[in-house]
Amino acid sequence: METKMVVVDKETPDERVIQEAAKILQTGGLVAFPTETVYGLGAHALDPKAVEGIFAAKGRPSDNPLIVHIAHTKELAALVAFVPPLAEVLIQAFWPGPLTLVLPKSIQVPTEISAGLPTVGVRFPQNPVAQALIRAAGIPIAAPSANISGRPSPTQAFHVAEDLYGKIDMIMDGGATEVGLESTVLDVTGAIPIILRPGGITKEMLEAVVGRVDIDPAILAKYDETLVPKAPGMKYTHYAPKAKITIVEGALDRIVEEINKQVKNQPSNKKIGIMATTQTQALYVECLMLVVGDRSHPETIAANLFAILRQFDQLGIEHVYAESLPQTALGMAIMNRLQKAAGYDIIKV
Ligand code: TXA
Ligand code: MG
Repeated sequence: METKMVVVDKETPDERVIQEAAKILQTGGLVAFPTETVYGLGAHALDPKAVEGIFAAKGRPSDNPLIVHIAHTKELAALVAFVPPLAEVLIQAFWPGPLTLVLPKSIQVPTEISAGLPTVGVRFPQNPVAQALIRAAGIPIAAPSANISGRPSPTQAFHVAEDLYGKIDMIMDGGATEVGLESTVLDVTGAIPIILRPGGITKEMLEAVVGRVDIDPAILAKYDETLVPKAPGMKYTHYAPKAKITIVEGALDRIVEEINKQVKNQPSNKKIGIMATTQTQALYVECLMLVVGDRSHPETIAANLFAILRQFDQLGIEHVYAESLPQTALGMAIMNRLQKAAGYDIIKV
């Protein structure tokens, strides 16, 4: 299949490009587009054949449900059985934005979307290109991250091309995404909301609006294979570059000391990389080093993380040492992705 690549202005996307992409979606094709979190691979959410195309292009396990994207809050009603009062409050506070709400699904939603679950995840993205595209298509759009299953999510159009060129109809290049990590997935079917996947909207931000918020124990730092995550996607190996990743956790000076020791102990022919931060980059032994961001501004780390993981692969690095971050606020989402990328290989110092 030929994949058409088009550049779109992020703030004021060209109407002709939007119309062309919308047409592809309406007729059952696949279009990758930018959102404020990561690039999504869009398809007509109410067309089971189109949805199957997403699973095929990504090599995605069929038991992993898809998020449905809308461009107006009123489009939610047709997708869900009902909207609990708690969800109304969250919608007021955080939509459009990087928050996916898991709600009881309506019969309109095909089982291919929900992977057999009685619920559906719905999100109203903030990105102007995403909004213009969904509006022009006039249909709800199913969109997982636009990567091959298991690879780091794409935060730039060329990441999408690396994984899906030749497998989808169009890639809309709207520049780098801002948040850099996928949306927070929040189950609001019960009395207390539960975070199924941490993301840009943090636990602290949610609690400021609705009070108590729980976290699915399966996504917390300590890996326990007896816990089955409620978001099926969280159980798969994920975000994984080809390189092996080891996280070093502890006080920052001890982390630096340990990484330097580990690097020195590796055979000289092995290609080792260090994922450093602004604060530590001058402290490491000579080695290939990429700076992921500023520890005092975790949003910079979130924005760069997936791109940096892909860059280590491009450079042929075999083993990466990464610093841990405090798991509060955005740090929780960052460490969740990093721990999965590392397959929970963590050295505590
Ligand atoms: O930021 C995002 O959410 C991006 C952009 C494109 O919007 N999309 C995204 O989709 O990350 P995906 O398919 O890569 O991840 C969706 C996650 C998976 O872990 C999936 O299991 C979970 O959300 N999920 C979707 N529907 C669910 C449901 N009904 N119940 C529980 N988990 C659900
Ligand atoms: Mg994904």
